[in-house]
Amino acid sequence: MNTKIILDCDPGHDDAMAILLAARECDVLAITTVSGNAPLHLTTANALLMCELAGLDIPVHSGADRPLLVPAAHAPRAHGATGLDGPPRPQVYLEATSADAVGCIISTVRTHDDVWLVPVGPLTNIALAIRQAPDIVGRIAGISLMGGAVGPGNVTPTAEFNIWADPHAALIVFRSGTRVLRMAGLNLTHQLCVGPEVIAALRADGGTVPTFMAGLFDFYLASYQERAGLEAAPMHDPCAVLAVSRPELFSFGARHVDVEADGDLTRGMTVVDERPGTEAVRNCDVAYSIDAAAALDLIVDAVRNYG
Ligand code: RIB
Ligand code: CA
Repeated sequence: MNTKIILDCDPGHDDAMAILLAARECDVLAITTVSGNAPLHLTTANALLMCELAGLDIPVHSGADRPLLVPAAHAPRAHGATGLDGPPRPQVYLEATSADAVGCIISTVRTHDDVWLVPVGPLTNIALAIRQAPDIVGRIAGISLMGGAVGPGNVTPTAEFNIWADPHAALIVFRSGTRVLRMAGLNLTHQLCVGPEVIAALRADGGTVPTFMAGLFDFYLASYQERAGLEAAPMHDPCAVLAVSRPELFSFGARHVDVEADGDLTRGMTVVDERPGTEAVRNCDVAYSIDAAAALDLIVDAVRNYG
């Protein structure tokens, strides 16, 4: 039986792959969108584009168009002006089911047992839902998020984009008391990368979805080559999906993790306590390793199956 999830995302190239993978691996009750890699209207349009491209019958609800307190920030150097630059955009006819992602999260969790929340963008929608309906924390199966890092950040020396973009929302989520919190941080996600050989194989498959994804990955890889000198592009967001559907592919360490929300140099830092003797306050299963070969096979399989 596929695990029931709500995928909260800010497409974004790796979010787009997470949508295909989640649809293949899980029972996706809803996709909710948030301002992050691009403004909300674009992340929502991009989520709808992926649903239409792959023929996914999943409701898309748009959510927060800005963080709780800090100004909205985007990532055009990573994802382009549209948030999904690269291949030609197909005509999209699908429309968002609502503009109430928070209400969708609350009502879905209240009417379904054992739902996982899988946020792979800034945590604004999740924090608003928890603040508006604290009872959902006791009902969800857990939260599996892409965000943070054990070690260096990407948007600052200490902070990863999703946490940095809305640190006050992240604080609410990490302090929510959810019974299971899984964190796929940059230390983990950089172990799962798509390189030129995978892109070439997808392009050789032909078909609408593999060709589109090859175009997305071409853009995304070129962006990482230019910005970070990487020769393969990290699949950040798919890691949060697989941490729910295939936890056996990961090694996790139980840690106390908190968020610095206001530091000049450390805003958005996930402070991971690796000291012994913290067993009583551990609130997070931090992912430390992944079977990248098996995970990559699942990513390619998801693209091919929707192709
Ligand atoms: O730092 C990586 C994260 O920021 C990913 O979720 C990517 O999509 C961007 O949102
Ligand atoms: Ca994302």
